[in-house]
Amino acid sequence: MTTPGWWAMALCEAVNDKTPLAVAFAGEELVLFRNAEGQAFALEDRCPHRRVPLALGRVVAAGLQCGYHGWTFDGASGRCTQIPNLRTNEPVPPRYAARAFPVSEGNGFVHVWLGEGVPDIDLPTDDYRPVGQQFTGSTIVNMSHEQYLAAMLDGPECLLNFAHVRMTDFFLGDVRKEHGRLVLERGAVWTTQILPSNFVVDYPLIVRTEVPVQGGSIRVDLLSEDETPLISLAIASGANRRGTTSLCWRGFVHAEVPAKAPLRWRTARVWHKAPFTVNSLIDGSAVAALLEAPSRDLHAARPPRLIPVSAVV
Ligand code: FES
Repeated sequence: MTTPGWWAMALCEAVNDKTPLAVAFAGEELVLFRNAEGQAFALEDRCPHRRVPLALGRVVAAGLQCGYHGWTFDGASGRCTQIPNLRTNEPVPPRYAARAFPVSEGNGFVHVWLGEGVPDIDLPTDDYRPVGQQFTGSTIVNMSHEQYLAAMLDGPECLLNFAHVRMTDFFLGDVRKEHGRLVLERGAVWTTQILPSNFVVDYPLIVRTEVPVQGGSIRVDLLSEDETPLISLAIASGANRRGTTSLCWRGFVHAEVPAKAPLRWRTARVWHKAPFTVNSLIDGSAVAALLEAPSRDLHAARPPRLIPVSAVV
């Protein structure tokens, strides 16, 4: 089950017109691909003929061709348009169709609409505007999607790291809702190699986490104390099989360099070292120790209606 909405499922550049991409989301198996003009499509990853995954097929001019008997499906409608062994002029029965999902792109991700009927919610705000080099990646973590979103509010330091920065659990204000996400800021400090900065009274950095309520991607920003953005990161997350969560992300370093930034942080910029890490292995002890506080607002902010994805038209 999932909350109806536009859910980010893959990096835009991971979806192409050569190789179909299989993704799993909230119990649903999907296949993503593009046509030669670059338009992205999403179909249920199951051939209506003999249930073979369509991701094992190939992209052709008319759509996606199943690898088993060669039926071809139109990306937009899911309709079967070609069956190799039909007689000339013999029509393809309309019931031979794969389920098609609305697709839209924004923030560098391919979003798929999971909900009833036509989309009645706008695509989440296009607020990711990278400059310079981007750092991208993907993984699957051994944690449920719900728990991942909750931990992103309660303790993002369990899920990701900014190089040479330590996030604290000191909240700078209350959770608020903006652009379909719950937003929370916490203080952060530069790490020191001399003294562990476990007790600090001053927060020269801010980590802002934004967790989607109804579709979209997670957003995390590292800001200076005057809220100048230093690093921005967008993470697409989705429920994979057996209680795991698929992640893919993209992030970049802004042009500004804070006056008090340590030399090693500046040096890492010059050498284009990754400014953040999204954890593939998550410390269960650390997550279990998190206080369940801001994430309570996430549950409250959700619309009451949850639908099984299998009921999606
Ligand atoms: S299983 Fe796909 S065409 Fe037969």
